[in-house]
Amino acid sequence: MNPGLARLQPYPFEKLAGLKQGIYPPQDKSPIDLSIGEPRHTTPAFILDEIRTHLPEAAVYPKTRGSDVLREVMTEWLRRRFKLPAASLHPDRNILPVNGTREALFAFAQCVIDAREPDPVVMLPNPFYQIYEGAAMLAGARPVYVNCGEANGYIPDFESVPAPVWKHCRLLYLCTPGNPTGAIIGRDTLGKLLELADRHDFIIASDECYAEIYPDETLPPPGLLQVAAELGRDDYHRCIVFHSLSKRSNVPGMRSGFVAGDTQIISAFLKYRTYHGCAMPSYIQAASARAWQDEQHVIENRKMYYEKISAVLGILGPALRVYRPAAGFYLWPETSIPDCDFARGLYATHNVTVLPGSFLSRVANGINPGANRVRIALVPSLAECREAAMRIHEYVRNL
Ligand SMILES: Cc1ncc(COP(=O)(O)O)c(C=O)c1O
Repeated sequence: MNPGLARLQPYPFEKLAGLKQGIYPPQDKSPIDLSIGEPRHTTPAFILDEIRTHLPEAAVYPKTRGSDVLREVMTEWLRRRFKLPAASLHPDRNILPVNGTREALFAFAQCVIDAREPDPVVMLPNPFYQIYEGAAMLAGARPVYVNCGEANGYIPDFESVPAPVWKHCRLLYLCTPGNPTGAIIGRDTLGKLLELADRHDFIIASDECYAEIYPDETLPPPGLLQVAAELGRDDYHRCIVFHSLSKRSNVPGMRSGFVAGDTQIISAFLKYRTYHGCAMPSYIQAASARAWQDEQHVIENRKMYYEKISAVLGILGPALRVYRPAAGFYLWPETSIPDCDFARGLYATHNVTVLPGSFLSRVANGINPGANRVRIALVPSLAECREAAMRIHEYVRNL
């Protein structure tokens, strides 16, 4: 067996199921689940129509590198969204479709980590999307957690990383906008990380799957490729970004995203994926191409999230220490009692499920940045989010 398997932690939702076991919430209150970041806005009909139209293509094996049309559409979208110089990205060399970013984030570490090296390090934010940690462990690397605390604006405190750790770093996962913090990693920090990547020879894997969920239409969050291009590094050396349709287009079940960046890394990843055997089905490719070409549904999607965030903050603000996230659809409030007790009590008394922050984080430098916080995913309808916020408010008042 791969020894990394024994190091894997149960997934946060398994821990949550354990936490809720044996509790019978009040049946007069409808269950409201704010624990999972699974989008629940309606999938645009044109995407589903496209799947139906292309279903007969299930008769043929799809290509791992995807169709030319799909890669061209993704390239166009990246250029538009991040203002990248047209010539800097080539659909045949810089882009690959993936079956959702989850599998790609995982597979990527297996592809780029050389476990024969002494002590290869994979750095990740803390709290974090648990795939980064599992990917590092199964690739035979040592995960190093970089705390994202309030004092640092909820982005990883890279200043706290000692020089010997940087020296061993081979892969750095970023999550911007962050899950669960909603924090956006700014241009200056991304620029500094690019310098560090050159100095210490590591790859930056920037998970940007929340990049399309932001409050101000005029201020989309910057991405890693954008900052690289602005700094004149438009060969995207050492940079790979991960983008997804799941949150952008409300198709988490379609399993569709892409990776883009450094030509050499993309070429190696294509080779890896050819053997891995994870080509995206052709009808999903066709529907994905349509989705990446349309922005109207994404604008409407954003509006719905920000209506919910404002409504919920208006209700929770007086009761909980909670900030307005820079982007994404999560709230990350502090709790006055331990996060697991808070989540269990809220479920037991009000039938509302939230995720304890410590399920998303580890102790690093003596601190667990998820302790005494919970993640609230504003994925249900506005009415349900409001109702949940009122129940949380009442719960907190009676603590
Ligand atoms: C930070 C982060 N990255 C990646 C993913 C995976 O998204 P998908 O595989 O649907 O693209 C998620 C899903 O919740 C996430 O929160």
